[in-house]
Amino acid sequence: MAPTAFRPDRPALVSRLRAAGCVYAEDEVELLLAAADSAETLTALADRRVAGVPLEHLLGWAEFCGLRVAVDPGVFVPRARTALLVEAAAAVAGPAPAVVDLCCGSGGTTLALAARLAPRWLAAVDVDPAAVACARRNLAGRDVPVLAGDLYDPLPP
Ligand SMILES: C[S@@+](CC[C@H](N)C(=O)[O-])C[C@H]1O[C@@H](n2cnc3c(N)ncnc32)[C@H](O)[C@@H]1O
Repeated sequence: MAPTAFRPDRPALVSRLRAAGCVYAEDEVELLLAAADSAETLTALADRRVAGVPLEHLLGWAEFCGLRVAVDPGVFVPRARTALLVEAAAAVAGPAPAVVDLCCGSGGTTLALAARLAPRWLAAVDVDPAAVACARRNLAGRDVPVLAGDLYDPLPP
């Protein structure tokens, strides 16, 4: 038997998300639709969104400084306002700086700085194993250690 056509009711979904307090309901619906391959998946995603799960945790990624950053469950979603920190850090960094992203979370800030600077050394630190794993995934393939531990403790002398 052929699979049932997946014809989502966009207006109904927008109304549902808007009623739950999603300000950018239309945009969220498009993102959820792109993430769902069936009506069942879409309903499950919408249910969790209405229950208050952050959109980024449903999608598994967040946009940050023009980059797509993976965000695992339990890991802080990088905020748009943190782009200001990235710009400020880039502005004060001299040539070939050594940079440490303390309390890196997903590693979004580290990733954004790697894209803006040519650091001689760049590292990230977080105490939460879930954040460390997520940051390592986001920084895979780069020469950027993601260290697990309390603040400066895991850094080399
Ligand atoms: C609010 S989140 C910010 C994450 C990231 N900087 C961002 O803007 O997306 C704070 C992060 O600090 C980490 N953290 C809290 N206390 C810490 C400590 N003593 N040492 C290292 N990381 C810590 C948490 O695990 C969490 O990932």
